[in-house]
Amino acid sequence: MSAATPAEADTPSSLLVLIGLPGCGKSTVGRHLARRLGVAFVDSDQVIEQRMGCSIRLFFEQEGEDAFRDIEQAVLDELSAGTTPAVLSTGGGAVLRPANRLHLHARGKVVYLHAAPDDIFRRLRHDTTRPLLQVQDPLQRLRTLYEQRDPLYRETAHYTIETGRPSVATLVNMVVMQLELAGIPMLPPAGPAGH
Ligand code: S3P
Repeated sequence: MSAATPAEADTPSSLLVLIGLPGCGKSTVGRHLARRLGVAFVDSDQVIEQRMGCSIRLFFEQEGEDAFRDIEQAVLDELSAGTTPAVLSTGGGAVLRPANRLHLHARGKVVYLHAAPDDIFRRLRHDTTRPLLQVQDPLQRLRTLYEQRDPLYRETAHYTIETGRPSVATLVNMVVMQLELAGIPMLPPAGPAGH
């Protein structure tokens, strides 16, 4: 786990953002974490699908990735500007656009759930919902995505948690412990000015 810089340590935040490669556990860990902290859970991909009126996979096929990224950027901007205390789980490509990286880092406490491509491949090898992994060699694709994105996840995150193979409960504890260690008063009610 990486530590927060002193300047960031005692900044209250009412938004906790989870980032990382597809299949690293953002949604599962996020849902449990939100329950543990007694705050709302928001999955940006679910909000995007509601907005598009179809699955992400279908939208990718019909409109292409750029159109998806436009909607993703608008949704992330909206969700990260909200004032309700929440855990926000993001799509794996949320860090691709500089504006998203800036907004998420500035408006929330961002946790990178780090996972190795080989571990993710084991979890996702039967998945058919993720358009970027519907290729002949999904493991190679995951390795390429990791190379491209790992630096972006690290740039956006305040903390990095090594996921390895612990249980969801252990991962939730690790995130909570990291926030406590950094002295971050977790998710207090948001004031009128937002997070
Ligand atoms: C994507 C990851 C997906 C989803 C979309 C694009 C990506 O989310 O946003 O398919 O670029 O890695 P998950 O990380 O939840 O799979």
